[in-house]
Amino acid sequence: MPSLVKLLLLSTALAAVANAAPNMVGYPDHCSLLAKAKPGRITYQEVANCYRSIDFNLKQAKATIETLTTFYNDAFVFRDVALTPNLKSPLTASPVDAMEGLKRIGQKRYRNDFDFHQDLSLFAMSFNDAHVTYAPQCYSSYIFLQPLYLYAPVINDSQSVRVRHDATKSGLEDCEVVRINGQNARDIIQRWADKHTGFSKDAGVRFNHALASKLYWPDTKIWLDVPGMFSFRYRLPETQFIDYELKCDGQYSRKFRGQWKVIPMAPEGSFSDKTSFVSNLCMHSTSNETTEPAVEPGVLTTVLGSLYESEHGRPDTSLKDLPDAKLWASNNTAAYQLKSMPHVGVLVVPTMEIVSQTEIPSIQGYMTLLANQGVTHIIIDMSGNFGGEEEFASLLPGVFFKSHDKSIHAHRTRFRVTPAIQALAEANLRDLNPKHSTYWDPRELADTATFTPFKTNPFITGVEDLAFNGRSAAFSQEVFNDYDQEIIDSTLSYPWSNDASKITILTDGQCGSACGMTSDYFVHRHGVKAVAVGGHHNTPLSMFSFPGASVLDTDSYVESFEKLGLKPTFQRLPYENSVSVGVTMVYSDNDTVPLEYNSARFPAAFRLDYNPAIARNQDQLWAAVARAAWK
Ligand SMILES: *[C@@H]1O[C@H](CO)[C@@H](O)[C@H](O)[C@H]1NC(C)=O
Ligand SMILES: *[C@@H]1O[C@H](CO)[C@@H](O)[C@H](O)[C@H]1NC(C)=O
Ligand SMILES: *[C@@H]1O[C@H](CO)[C@@H](O)[C@H](O)[C@H]1NC(C)=O
Ligand SMILES: *[C@@H]1O[C@H](CO)[C@@H](O)[C@H](O)[C@H]1NC(C)=O
Repeated sequence: MPSLVKLLLLSTALAAVANAAPNMVGYPDHCSLLAKAKPGRITYQEVANCYRSIDFNLKQAKATIETLTTFYNDAFVFRDVALTPNLKSPLTASPVDAMEGLKRIGQKRYRNDFDFHQDLSLFAMSFNDAHVTYAPQCYSSYIFLQPLYLYAPVINDSQSVRVRHDATKSGLEDCEVVRINGQNARDIIQRWADKHTGFSKDAGVRFNHALASKLYWPDTKIWLDVPGMFSFRYRLPETQFIDYELKCDGQYSRKFRGQWKVIPMAPEGSFSDKTSFVSNLCMHSTSNETTEPAVEPGVLTTVLGSLYESEHGRPDTSLKDLPDAKLWASNNTAAYQLKSMPHVGVLVVPTMEIVSQTEIPSIQGYMTLLANQGVTHIIIDMSGNFGGEEEFASLLPGVFFKSHDKSIHAHRTRFRVTPAIQALAEANLRDLNPKHSTYWDPRELADTATFTPFKTNPFITGVEDLAFNGRSAAFSQEVFNDYDQEIIDSTLSYPWSNDASKITILTDGQCGSACGMTSDYFVHRHGVKAVAVGGHHNTPLSMFSFPGASVLDTDSYVESFEKLGLKPTFQRLPYENSVSVGVTMVYSDNDTVPLEYNSARFPAAFRLDYNPAIARNQDQLWAAVARAAWK
């Protein structure tokens, strides 16, 4: 997904270097046809033909596999943990042999370049951990959108797939989707999500991820309709269209063929033919501008926001009430109060890609405001929150639960250790430039006994060999990620302070990474009960996904070495590519099983089914959450 950000921000300089190479007579250059297609009228087939026309390049494939092998072997903290068989409910994910999988792909000869990279993408998704990605920029150059968004409400105690939104405006909303491409709709969506999302180890969350949901758009205070990944694809879909068999009003069934709407992500003129497609969009950019991981708006919000604008125009940014919820304040987060239950307030936290120094004081201001309006109970709505800053994850629970012990909001954490990583940490200790700090900077990490930053190298002392599933590797001693607790104004308190029975968390399981870490503090350190919505009827659902790690991509790994004047352990990937793995292994409380694989930590205390009303109206969902949590 991160590669889309790069695409959206692709400089115009790139367009300038795209120069037309002469077409060979009689040779249809599919990418040149694609380049000539009008932006609003690009077809699935035009994109597929261009993608598939790129020749498989054995030398490049070898270089790619070599880099991935070193990267996974040295940095991927779940390399061996991923072999864990028989995960317990609510997790359902098969074991993956990371090194064997790469080897298998490396030995295969492919018909074309696209198939090779597609196999690597599917391999990354097989970990069911959204931190593990493989997304070449050029094969994410187009987004594909279906005219129908789907959901799976429970009506009269029975769950069915239905049309949540019909962009053709032909009255198909809430028609039942009986079959998709001739197969049972629920089964085919689940099977697709199991193979093509890689988002969560819980099949119910993968189901939610494939289906429509709501997402708060902080810039405009609007709740966006998220199509769900079954209807909104970052990668080339498997088929040219989707055939639906619909049952409207319970009686007759009708057929509907959904063509993909193709939305280009790269600016117009980025390429003119196959050669320039490869050199401008596929190959690793030669500019050595280091990519400072800035706080960026979520990719999904950016794309959906611009889709919304193209249909409705730019909305104003004023505060907007929902029918049953007054919006009191909002910037990156939002504070609502239910009108029908004025004692219930809602804090919406749609992302953790936010700056703690300004956001925590804002949130404390919102909480004071709600308390002054008579709010006594708080729902923290973190649906669709894919994570962000770990510091924010540690600070948010401190707004609700006062503690002088910093370790309450920190996870015991381990990294993999190699000689190269030891050298990185050593160089960080000696380098005074804060811009040279890396994941392995001992001064950003704290000793678990005293919660004070390291002055010595924890990647040299206390290193342990740990075996997972019969395979052993070197890991660092346990460390904490340091954070600045002084950002919280501890003089402020609210009617719900330190009272878990007045606080609940709402998610649809799509609360990832730092969002999962913060939920773990609320729930397992303080006894807050979470409500999870959606998934499958009568089946436990996770409150979070991929909570157990921080993410590292190949480019920032290489840059970590380069900025310290050290030699990276591998060559950069030939392609501009978003390739990442989990780099830290965190443990909840005193567990010995890493949080990422500890199924007992995942289920929400309460589960709600969607129905047509709460799926379309976030205020009605909040009222249902309040009834479930505080009955
Ligand atoms: C649900 O049950 C009610 C009452 O029995 C009935 O009127 C309604 O048509 C049913 N709805 C559906 C979608 O089956
Ligand atoms: C890359 O960095 C070097 C040294 O920092 C500089 O001299 C060179 O111009 C840069 N190249 C590009 C393409 O920016
Ligand atoms: C809103 O957030 C932005 C950045 O996230 C910050 O710069 C700005 O000061 C905030 N505005 C208010 C009124 O808090
Ligand atoms: C974890 O272990 C420490 C040290 O033995 C103990 O003080 C603490 O209470 C334990 N925490 C939990 C949540 O069990």
